[in-house]
Amino acid sequence: MIFKTICLLTFIIWGVLADEKDSIYCTTDFCEKYPHAGEPPCSVIPPSCNITNSLSGIYLPSPTTCNCCEYCIGYLSEGQACATGKKTTDTPSTICGSGLYCDLDRETCRPISNTPCTKAQAEYDNRRKDGKMGDYEIRPKCDDNGDFVPYHCTPGGICYCVDKEGKRIFGSIANDGKGEYELPCDCSRNHKDMGLVMGRDLRPGEYLRCASNGAYEPLQCLDEKTCICVDEQDGTPAFDGMLPVEIWAIDRNTLSCFDPTKNVKGSFYRRCEEVYMNKSQEISDSKKDYDLVLAYELPNCTPDGNYAPVQEDHKYKFCSTPEGIPLIRLEKKAENKKLRDEMNCKCAMARRLIKSNEKPSCLENGNYNPEQCRRGYCYTVDEDGNQIMSTQ
Ligand SMILES: *[C@@H]1O[C@H](CO)[C@@H](O)[C@H](O)[C@H]1NC(C)=O
Ligand SMILES: *[C@@H]1O[C@H](CO)[C@@H](O)[C@H](O)[C@H]1NC(C)=O
Repeated sequence: MIFKTICLLTFIIWGVLADEKDSIYCTTDFCEKYPHAGEPPCSVIPPSCNITNSLSGIYLPSPTTCNCCEYCIGYLSEGQACATGKKTTDTPSTICGSGLYCDLDRETCRPISNTPCTKAQAEYDNRRKDGKMGDYEIRPKCDDNGDFVPYHCTPGGICYCVDKEGKRIFGSIANDGKGEYELPCDCSRNHKDMGLVMGRDLRPGEYLRCASNGAYEPLQCLDEKTCICVDEQDGTPAFDGMLPVEIWAIDRNTLSCFDPTKNVKGSFYRRCEEVYMNKSQEISDSKKDYDLVLAYELPNCTPDGNYAPVQEDHKYKFCSTPEGIPLIRLEKKAENKKLRDEMNCKCAMARRLIKSNEKPSCLENGNYNPEQCRRGYCYTVDEDGNQIMSTQ
């Protein structure tokens, strides 16, 4: 994934700068006239493995210069022999299917059973068997690789993005039962991976901007100047025939993805990003040592360019709206140190997202009250509002 992210960035930079003439050689016409140009003869695609049948294989353009041939990696089922990749340098023609991996010792496809997600599923299933299950606990969902799916929903609460290990990351919506479709989370997962590459939190403007649901925002400005439209799912440039423009020129006529309900003519950065950039400029102009910058001098921004839920100034630590307006404030004094240290504002944020009257109960620092009651049933929750079994 980290590799993919770096490729993606390279691709974006390349995509913006590349000259058309490099790719003219490999046109559809060219492939029709010379189907084997620079490639071995195209192999025959088994009818069970085609573009409309994603259950039986992964359909791809062939991994050769012009991608003229079609190519399909068929899925193997449990117990079938699989290549481990050590015997041949050919591109594999089969791969273990959904929920399976290639066991190197037996060279057969076996069920994935030891990832954090599949372990969490097994643990859930065991507790369910033993009747030690809360009414609002939900079974973890894993993807084909045994990783956590990108979204996690709490019943009657919110859906939020998680990384492959199931840890919460940026991106959330109210839970209306459609988390799978409305919370793609690709941008926030890649944003997090970029942070791991850099070994620190990313600063505003260092990566593409995510939408509040964790997808890519369609309109992006890459270097404080060049603005383009990108695909919401994977962040790759949309080759819509429009040229990159500078920020001052952003408008309906210059960018196809300009949405007057979300974008502002001639401007890109959100308030938190702008304050952050102006402040860091001030700090570096004043030649202040960055190590001495106080925690509250720079605002905390989320990957969508808005204010993060937890903020502080010289007098208060507070839960903030995305626009930077304080919702709950705790004065910086000794009596409430513990409350302030633990402050995560996750409950306060969930209350803002949830439209119904069934809102979670929060503590005075905006965290979830560990004891929640819903429809006459009381239970214990973790810091993200998920039911957990109390350990008494
Ligand atoms: C694709 O695969 C499906 C299922 O095997 C089959 O019914 C269909 O005819 C195939 N389509 C093509 C274009 O080969
Ligand atoms: C940031 O600085 C620019 C240029 O000095 C100024 O126009 C803008 O209003 C500032 N924005 C904020 C939010 O302080």
